Amino acid sequence: MTKKVFIKTFGCQMNEYDSDKMADVLNAAQGYEPTDNVDEADLILFNTCSVREKAQEKVFSDLGRVKHLKKKGVLIGVGGCVASQEGSAIVDRAPYVDVVFGPQTLHRLPELIARRKSEGRSQVDISFPEIEKFDAMPPPRIEGASAFVSIMEGCSKYCSFCVVPYTRGEEISRPFEDVLTEVADLADQGVKEVTLLGQNVNAYRGKMGGHTGSAGGNKTLDGLDHTHSAEIADFATLLEYVHEIPGIERIRYTTSHPKEMTTRMTEVYARLPKLVSFLHLPVQAGSDRVLAAMKRGYTAIEFKSVVRKLRAARPGLTLSSDFIVGFPGETEEDFEKTMKLIDDIGFDTSFSFVYSRRPGTPASDLVDDTPQTVKLQRLQRLQAKINEQANAIARSMVGSTQRVLVEGTSARDSTELSARTENNRIVNFAGHPRLIGQMIDVLITDAMTNTFRGRVVTQEQDQEGEQSSRGATA
Ligand code: SAM
Ligand code: F3S
Repeated sequence: MTKKVFIKTFGCQMNEYDSDKMADVLNAAQGYEPTDNVDEADLILFNTCSVREKAQEKVFSDLGRVKHLKKKGVLIGVGGCVASQEGSAIVDRAPYVDVVFGPQTLHRLPELIARRKSEGRSQVDISFPEIEKFDAMPPPRIEGASAFVSIMEGCSKYCSFCVVPYTRGEEISRPFEDVLTEVADLADQGVKEVTLLGQNVNAYRGKMGGHTGSAGGNKTLDGLDHTHSAEIADFATLLEYVHEIPGIERIRYTTSHPKEMTTRMTEVYARLPKLVSFLHLPVQAGSDRVLAAMKRGYTAIEFKSVVRKLRAARPGLTLSSDFIVGFPGETEEDFEKTMKLIDDIGFDTSFSFVYSRRPGTPASDLVDDTPQTVKLQRLQRLQAKINEQANAIARSMVGSTQRVLVEGTSARDSTELSARTENNRIVNFAGHPRLIGQMIDVLITDAMTNTFRGRVVTQEQDQEGEQSSRGATA
């Protein structure tokens, strides 16, 4: 009988991507098939997140909930950032956990499981073997016309509040040709949209000139940053090359860092039409004092200047962001500066969080005397403003024609299709299922709370080779 793996994912898109890779390696090495039903699983994996305390604590309660399944011989594994931080302490606290692995060792899962069985004791491997992870991956399994491609791992920014550099290690870029080959393979299999993935993709510095199997790190062996030398490609160069790959019609990337939004990066928005007119650019706060304490490496004016340049290169660009409210020492005046920045920029749907103290990070030593109720009130005010702005953007899109990628049938009504706009919003509309996987033009007729309704205005050349026809309803 086929063995089944149940994977529960917490946290960011990197984790979502890693979970897919876990399923791929387990399938290739040991024939595991993924399942959504925990009761029929032979292997249960938790891909954890430790960016905020709540997510971290959730893991142990979830582990407790599946512990009884061990009686049937089920194996349990913990991966991701909590695993990376806690290591064997997870097995100390929950001895029934069979394998603990980090974001950089997930490719070793089959080996760890085999060792768990042969040695009869829990296995822990949370090392950082750099780019080995990518080399050990089976080719990605394609679902639909959109795919994620990880281009770098880790983060070297060390924002004072964040655990990521400690759990995922320093920034390491995948070699340039490896990324291009993967995107070209995906395009050959019908993928039209790629999302280039990493904690700070615009810090990408990939080694050019053939794959060596070694780390394409951000620094070369002499310790110097050869960003503009012939052998190292920066992110702008990577985007230019991905843009030329036949079949790729839309390019997204996430996440990027304001500090790395160089002139070369703003220029590509003028030159590369396949790059979506939507950018997730985390700002975190609008007060220079708080930004400095966060060690973000820019001021509010510098952030605004980056946005101004981006919008000059690409009029109509919409931006989403991440915000942290209630960072230690944030005063009412600091918070008002964040609100002012939001007013000045005008953001689309964003992520906002109350600061969560993470042991081991520099900010965890700061005095944090703002009451939690005050922080929550600030968060509510901030979210209300962002929602207002996001709704205004949605309303302004009604009546416009949007180029969308049709992802499948609508979640609510299976007779309808569902597609995504450049700014990541869902549009539902009546259409023939043959449009799934196509880029088409849709007229936005209505804005609902989180989605749009629309009508097809162009029909791409379909599989039977019919010509496109403007004004047709599919
Ligand atoms: N690489 C991204 C960037 O450029 O900022 C961020 C990655 S981080 C995993 C995602 C978001 O989580 C951050 O942008 C930040 O807003 C939030 N975050 C990180 N540490 C946090 C903490 N200690 N408390 C609250 N939010 C936090
Ligand atoms: Fe975290 Fe800052 Fe890196 S938020 S992921 S340390 S850019």
